[in-house]
Amino acid sequence: MRGAASTRWHPPTRGRGALLTAGVLCMVVLVVSAILAVALPHPEQEQPTRGLPHLARAHGIDLGVAVAVNPLTHDTRYQSVVTENYTSVTAENAMKWEHVQPERSRFDWSGPDAVVDFAERNGLDVHGHTLLWHNQQPSWLAQGDWSAQELRQVLREHMEALLGRYQGRVTSWDVINEPFQDHGPRLRENLWYQVLGEDYIAEALSMAHEIDPEAELYINEFGIEGGGAKTDAMYSLVTDLLDRGVPLHGVGFQGHFVHGNVPQDLAEHMRRFSDLGLEVTVSELDVRIPQPPREQALRQQEQEYQHVVQACLEVPRCVGVSVWGVSDQHSWIPEWFPGYTAALPFDEDYEPKPALDGMTEALSRRR
Ligand code: G3I
Repeated sequence: MRGAASTRWHPPTRGRGALLTAGVLCMVVLVVSAILAVALPHPEQEQPTRGLPHLARAHGIDLGVAVAVNPLTHDTRYQSVVTENYTSVTAENAMKWEHVQPERSRFDWSGPDAVVDFAERNGLDVHGHTLLWHNQQPSWLAQGDWSAQELRQVLREHMEALLGRYQGRVTSWDVINEPFQDHGPRLRENLWYQVLGEDYIAEALSMAHEIDPEAELYINEFGIEGGGAKTDAMYSLVTDLLDRGVPLHGVGFQGHFVHGNVPQDLAEHMRRFSDLGLEVTVSELDVRIPQPPREQALRQQEQEYQHVVQACLEVPRCVGVSVWGVSDQHSWIPEWFPGYTAALPFDEDYEPKPALDGMTEALSRRR
């Protein structure tokens, strides 16, 4: 009942209503704030002001890492390694055709969305990997008996879906992955080559550019890091594409190296392409070490990682270095190269290895 008398102290009658209103308002604000803090997506994290991300950004390059969806969405230590040490992510497998469009016209965005959402929540860039490749194609695509017209339509549907969904969020793409034969200067006769002819590369790049004119379009390859016939063939390919005005913006040097065989002239070969006005990256860096990884080899691996990052810093338009996995526990190497291991900057238990110091050392030097 209003104004009922009581022996307890009461503020002056005149202020009591205002005080009550203020108290109620405070309670409302607190409750609403609590709800919003839980309901709203976490604002982008402040970019780290120290450590590798800060050093990389000071040099104007990305330091990236390939990520797998399951640990990225479930393992907090995995997440911390990514957010505390890198400025960009590449989906190791989630954006590949077999995962994105496992059946024709059925798209599974769960994996790519998880990677892109995580990146945006943590202020990381995303590099799209990969569109035209000979591996990890779904069977409906790989085994189809396609006419050129049908395959063009299939390719356009895939690109419009994938590039369209992440337009403005994924700002660079490996459009063409590993176009050359493993060890030689001839184009790999993959599905695209067989059905569309060797000019499939120009056609795919032009299609991707038409769909997302803002995206940086890359050709990504291994075995071109140390010169030789494959490097020369890649150089001839990109020179021809550029001369014809085909929209190509960069070349990824994958950098899957063997300990003790990291090319000393890596910068020289990246610079050849950079001198054409192209961006270059080391896109999938790992340095595999023979089992068991001895202390001396790990120390030498430190120098090898330092050398690769230093090479990027020396080359104009080298826009980044990405390592191909968060930790040795998640590396593709042991499965694909039995007898080799310990290829990445973090060990099986997410502990930093000397290789991480090597990258830090390179980035700590003034340009
Ligand atoms: O997802 C299935 C899982 O359901 C199944 O239980 C398991 C059984 O082995 O296989 C899983 O698929 C594996 C897939 O990675 C996802 O983990 C495939 O077997 C395996 O072959 C595949 O390997 C990937 C490889 O590309 C395929 O060629 C590696 O993770 C990936 O790191 C590697 O990455 C490529 C780049 O995209 C292009 N450059 C070369 C690089 C190394 O090959």
